[in-house]
Amino acid sequence: MADFVVAAKISEVTPGHMKTVLVNGKQIALANIDGEFFAMGDSCTHAGCSLGGEGVLDGNVVTCGCHGGQFDVTTGKLVRPPPAEDEPSYEVKTEGDTILVRI
Ligand code: FES
Repeated sequence: MADFVVAAKISEVTPGHMKTVLVNGKQIALANIDGEFFAMGDSCTHAGCSLGGEGVLDGNVVTCGCHGGQFDVTTGKLVRPPPAEDEPSYEVKTEGDTILVRI
């Protein structure tokens, strides 16, 4: 069973924004949507661009900065090609001022 691992401070991911973090050697994109946190794979399934670093978040959809692919950050599901595959999605919880991700 995977454990929750500290990913970031809550203050590092402001509402409407994303952040790329390294958790247990995995690159994860954290998103803050109206104070609720979500985590999915950071590396775009199309050509590997960083979604947390170069993507643009609008509501619950991130648009990849490279070729415009879109994913739902709450589920990791593909919304618009050219990517062909979903991102992995990770369970998130908060404790105090910390965001934890189940890896
Ligand atoms: S790398 Fe993300 S759409 Fe191409």
